[in-house]
Amino acid sequence: MVDSSTRREFLNRALAAWAATTAVGGAAAAGASLWPRDEPPSTARIPKASLQNGRATGSLRGAPFVLVASGSGAVAFSLVCTHARCIVRWEAADKRFLCPCHKGTFDADGRRLSGPPPADLRRFEVRDAGDAWEVTG
Ligand code: FES
Repeated sequence: MVDSSTRREFLNRALAAWAATTAVGGAAAAGASLWPRDEPPSTARIPKASLQNGRATGSLRGAPFVLVASGSGAVAFSLVCTHARCIVRWEAADKRFLCPCHKGTFDADGRRLSGPPPADLRRFEVRDAGDAWEVTG
């Protein structure tokens, strides 16, 4: 015969085990949705002849980026806002990128200026490939 204190201990242990399993599973699911899966880098080729005023746009895995070339080289950064992944656009009059979703702003080098974005626009690696720039990210 099982007394009530033994049954209570068993139920407490079972409840604690269920709570721990649920917490671990929930944390794993949340983590999987917050961080992208590891993907191999992708490379886009931007012919130098296609630049207009030293700029060109391209895409990596369907996400747009801008490449800005100068006499000393080139930089490229994502046009995907670091807040909620809306696409930022260049505002020539203000010389800044504006995110239309929540009015986040970034300077011409993709550095965060204001609004809810938590970080600068993501930078990509750029390689001089002769007649083209290769952007990898
Ligand atoms: S998605 Fe860009 S500011 Fe919110």
